[in-house]
Amino acid sequence: MVKLGVNIDHVATLREARKTVYPDPVYAAVLAELGGADGITVHLREDRRHIKERDLRILKDIIKTRLNLEMAATKEMVEIALDVKPHMVTLVPEKREELTTEGGLDVVKHFNVLKKTCLRLKEGGIEVFIFVDPDEKQIENCYKLAVDGIEIHTGKYADASKDKEREQEFLKIKKCVLFSLDRKLKTSAGHGLSYENVQKIAGIPGLYELNIGHSIISRSIYVGIKEAVREMKHLILTASKMGS
Ligand code: PXP
Repeated sequence: MVKLGVNIDHVATLREARKTVYPDPVYAAVLAELGGADGITVHLREDRRHIKERDLRILKDIIKTRLNLEMAATKEMVEIALDVKPHMVTLVPEKREELTTEGGLDVVKHFNVLKKTCLRLKEGGIEVFIFVDPDEKQIENCYKLAVDGIEIHTGKYADASKDKEREQEFLKIKKCVLFSLDRKLKTSAGHGLSYENVQKIAGIPGLYELNIGHSIISRSIYVGIKEAVREMKHLILTASKMGS
């Protein structure tokens, strides 16, 4: 069954909006787990605009599922990851001026740096995933890096305003999931997934995990985190049983 990784960065964003000690993303993680999350995802950004190292260390200690650390492939981040030892790392591109991660990592362009980064993380006993656009050339290069898995960027699918464009993006993702599974890579997906658009993606056979943040945390304002996660998990499980 496809897993649900809940990204709790947005709880930390609210905290940082006032530089208070609340709301605490650590509490959010516990509630997400009670709602059925299979993993907790956080992005420790270079500018520490939301998640802090303190959050990461406490989360590693207390969560009962798996901690997925999204990070840029920099020396500083690799040192932190090797020290904290999350269960897995997802390497993402990072630009200071972006609102959120804007696309997949260019594995072709950064192949040599990524090779060293992946090796160090894997030697440290950390599972390594790379966030990539739905592009076979990128996935082939992830395979050459011998990573454990990939996360396919679903942002274009999620943002498509016309049905035809959304369908084209969906077919591209589906083809890339098959391509990745053929290479025995664990294959996840995420970015921009919501209660409205998740089921089509969740119905793709063989997916490992969906990483979802903004829509779940937004809904939690009305219904609470536990219920928001429970509802998303229900949609995912129903769709993964039915197929898309
Ligand atoms: N996957 C990756 C690699 C991301 O960077 C993000 C955003 O932090 C997500 C998934 C979750 O995206 P969203 O918040 O749009 O659900």
